[in-house]
Amino acid sequence: MVSYMAKPKVYITRELPERGLNIIKKNFEAEVWPEYAPPPKKVIVEKVRNVDGLVSLLSDKIDSEVFNAAPRLKIVSQLAVGFDNIDIPEATKRGIYVTNTPEVLTDTTADFAWALLMAVARRVVEADRYVRTGQWKVSWHPSMLQGRDVYGATIGIVGAGRIGYAMAKRATGFNMKILFYDVIPRPEIEKDFGAKKVDLDTLFKESDFVSIHVPLMKETHHLVNKERLALMKKTAYLINNARGPVVDEKALYEALKERRIAGAGLDVFEQEPTQVDNPLLKLDNVVVAPHISSASYETRSRMSEMVAENLVAFFEGKKPPNLVNPDVMKVRPLAKQP
Ligand code: GLV
Repeated sequence: MVSYMAKPKVYITRELPERGLNIIKKNFEAEVWPEYAPPPKKVIVEKVRNVDGLVSLLSDKIDSEVFNAAPRLKIVSQLAVGFDNIDIPEATKRGIYVTNTPEVLTDTTADFAWALLMAVARRVVEADRYVRTGQWKVSWHPSMLQGRDVYGATIGIVGAGRIGYAMAKRATGFNMKILFYDVIPRPEIEKDFGAKKVDLDTLFKESDFVSIHVPLMKETHHLVNKERLALMKKTAYLINNARGPVVDEKALYEALKERRIAGAGLDVFEQEPTQVDNPLLKLDNVVVAPHISSASYETRSRMSEMVAENLVAFFEGKKPPNLVNPDVMKVRPLAKQP
């Protein structure tokens, strides 16, 4: 693609799956942070001094400190659908394009939310521990490890975008009643699955499973708080594989510990990685994972390819397929980069 001699320079904050990395290495002069752990902020600030593009992950904070250090930076290509780690208004103001990797991970992420939901409701992790730790001493008992039915229950989907829609699709296979809340109209989820739009309080009151699928923004920070948790049924479960800070973790811990709600399935935390002394981890009615909802081989590989495609398109003077800040085109109109 890029026909000029000097290739644009790109810094990549982690080793990406090969499929995308190979495309980037072919088209750009690329440097990759080689460690498993993220580069410290000061390394990112140092590395961006001379680059035209940056490939970021959701654990990299990309803010004005980074932009100030990067006079040549024109595009941040993020390997994730969420981009709350990037200061979008600052990027736009400076003419820096920001892209993400939506859609490809929708079903993979919904599958994992479903796995958490099934695991906590039917006590799969507890059951596994029960067997492995020698607690299974009686062959069968009617009250052994009883859970709650998923089939026929009511699911409340908070955020009915792509992943929320995919949750509703799965819920129909379980003959569930589907409630949803969204700030924008979502006629397709109503039409396709008979989902009913309700206000947030009604959703929390009536659902057996409350599943969170909103992006993290000012408006959604601690959207699940003490008051909303208090509305939930004692037999209900909270599922969150969106972003940790959407849930007030302390309030969730209290609700779970006092058995005011039945359980939670969490792939995301207020601080990541969460520490082993997080009190939530002491509770049997919580199933946890380390933010891996989109982590299938196929999806991560395709995500890396999308990261590369967004970069390539931009440097060819085309609108990147997954541009999240289209206003930037007014600040830096598309043009084949010299
Ligand atoms: C993962 O959390 C993502 O935003 O892709």
